[in-house]
Amino acid sequence: MSKEIETQRNFNPGTNEPFSSVLARHVSRRDIMRGGLSLAALGMLGGIGGLNLANAQESGSGKTPLALAFESLRGSRTDAVVVPEGYTAQVLVPWGTPLNGAAAEWKHDMRMTAEAQAERVGMHHDGMHAFALDADNASRDFLLALNNEYIDQAALWAPQGGPTNADSGRRPADEVRTEINAHGITLVRVRKDAEGRWTHVPDDARNRRFTSATPMELAGPVAGSDYVRTRYSPEGTHTRGTNNNCANGYTPWGTYLTCEENWPEVFVNTGERHADDARLGLPTERGRYGWETAAGSEGERDDEFARFDVTPRGNGPRDDYRNETRTFGYIVEIDPYDGQSRAVKRTALGRFRHEGCWPGKLVAGEPVVFYSGHDARNEYIYKFVSDAKWDPADANRPGEAYDRLALGAKYMDEGTLYVARFDADGGGEWLALEPDTRVADGRTLAEALSLAEDDRAGVIVHTCDAADLLGATPMDRPEWGTVDPSSGEVYMTLTNNSRRTEADSAPTFTNEGDAIEAAGVGYATAPANAANPRADNEAGQVIRWRERGDDATRFDWEVFVFGAAADDADNLSGLTERNQFASPDGLWYDDRGDGQGILWIETDNGYDGVAEQTNDQVLAVVPAALSRESGQASVVGAANQQQLKRFAVGPNDCEVTGIFATPDKTALFINIQHPGNWPADADAVIQDATKAAAGSVRPRAATVVIQKADGGQIGV
Ligand code: FEO
Ligand code: CA
Ligand code: CA
Repeated sequence: MSKEIETQRNFNPGTNEPFSSVLARHVSRRDIMRGGLSLAALGMLGGIGGLNLANAQESGSGKTPLALAFESLRGSRTDAVVVPEGYTAQVLVPWGTPLNGAAAEWKHDMRMTAEAQAERVGMHHDGMHAFALDADNASRDFLLALNNEYIDQAALWAPQGGPTNADSGRRPADEVRTEINAHGITLVRVRKDAEGRWTHVPDDARNRRFTSATPMELAGPVAGSDYVRTRYSPEGTHTRGTNNNCANGYTPWGTYLTCEENWPEVFVNTGERHADDARLGLPTERGRYGWETAAGSEGERDDEFARFDVTPRGNGPRDDYRNETRTFGYIVEIDPYDGQSRAVKRTALGRFRHEGCWPGKLVAGEPVVFYSGHDARNEYIYKFVSDAKWDPADANRPGEAYDRLALGAKYMDEGTLYVARFDADGGGEWLALEPDTRVADGRTLAEALSLAEDDRAGVIVHTCDAADLLGATPMDRPEWGTVDPSSGEVYMTLTNNSRRTEADSAPTFTNEGDAIEAAGVGYATAPANAANPRADNEAGQVIRWRERGDDATRFDWEVFVFGAAADDADNLSGLTERNQFASPDGLWYDDRGDGQGILWIETDNGYDGVAEQTNDQVLAVVPAALSRESGQASVVGAANQQQLKRFAVGPNDCEVTGIFATPDKTALFINIQHPGNWPADADAVIQDATKAAAGSVRPRAATVVIQKADGGQIGV
């Protein structure tokens, strides 16, 4: 990498060609056969960048940007993790690892039970974060908080030959309890030994599980409202469990945020759904795993299964579970340092299929900001801005036990939720989801939603319909975000969208609706727009934006990189076999101070154009090192694409997700979710992640720790 390369931060679309004109000339995947258009021709597409170098040093330090000192990997399609030469990768805390020393060791033929699963690492690792126990040892001994997003029933029930009545008929109560306990969050202490090997610490008092049955509190506008009264919590203050916890977040006061994504699928309503549940796609025939079918089983405790069927059956909400779903769809806060603390659902951050939740740039005396995306086709990007201003005295004190959840209440229960509109000129606006916000026809949002004029809880419960009414931009499935802590620029993956149609097409709507403004109706298909310019978008893109300092509701945006196969007609970022990717998902800005850092991109790809060459992967790029040629459609383009490098590849059938590095940047932690035949040793907990199994193994999702053999910093 050349030391002469200038840092470029260009969010100055006013001087550049509007993206709308780019869009007008845009060539879609459907129009042209793969490979049918040359990259030179695609170079004519131009972009929002234009290329004003005036602000080149605006966010950087003026230092020479980092250089990635590894060779971009070839693709791989094996039952093993692949890392660059000179690196090691080890398995840590796979599914089934016991959290206490008295529990039986994992064995490949172990028959899982509800009791055993409740004290072991859950399934299908996803988002995660490290919580230091003391600042001096933060890179070698910490609490690992990780999400267990969903389950592989075949692997869970392998010794018994599979799940009972998976698709029809009644599920056995014990199987349902076990599956519920395999979901949620795992907290486990991990540490590095003198040889550089990582192990977990059984019996640490803070090792614990939160499952889809654990009692939790509701907080924020929805707590205690009529919307969440149930037979379990007549006052609407509590619920049980969190599930489909996908990506994560964390707070500056030292708590973990876990995010409820595909939770509607585990419920069913065979009667008339609430409009908000219809909007979110609640099943009407059977829940994803049929948990509700165990209702009435001998030994059922406190409607533990009945609550998954939310069909109204009683005289009112206190008689049944018609409102149970309204206790899901939130950001959930956990204090990892206090082994007895409860989890709290922070409803002020909105109710939808939350992929994750990422704190914005932190400034003393300014509000605390969190960004969040709704991962479904043609859904939206949101931000929450606290009423309380950040007080540095509230910053985390690692390892100390004190009431962090009170700080969560201070910063997360009162504030304003916004949804994003991305304009074709590269600007954008944050639209406030307040009861008195005016919608297009002049009514207030509360009136348009048929709510009382001050019903903040109602606006939150109906977040998606409220965002529809404000004219938010439907996106290509928002997944992870990350924030450059120096510049405050926000990056977000838009993973793919099979229901994105040509720019001049008319939208279609869900639930037989005929207008997006209707209650319970969302976009079934939506035409391409500037921020989501490719119809039938199989490969996805990464977008980034920067808040305008002079107006809290305005921002500027640009596409950072488009996914594609190298020989695709719409390979707009000029990718090659060494960095082609599709369906970006995980994302993390690896801050190394002074505006330096690596942007890590993880994939969850189903696009054959890339999958035929490589399994899911981790890519790295140094944003501060990118210069851009005129005419590029994204920040990464043909002239600088070689700076986007493939760092790791996962085993067959997996997705790669969850990511952070130790503060000293000597260990990168990732998660391997739903592998097909990995890790190689069916019985070992700690093992080499780069070995392939000789035969068939019972697959286990696991964390993988990537380190340099010489102990140096990752990536450089
Ligand atoms: Fe669970 Fe949107 O990935
Ligand atoms: Ca609607
Ligand atoms: Ca994801």
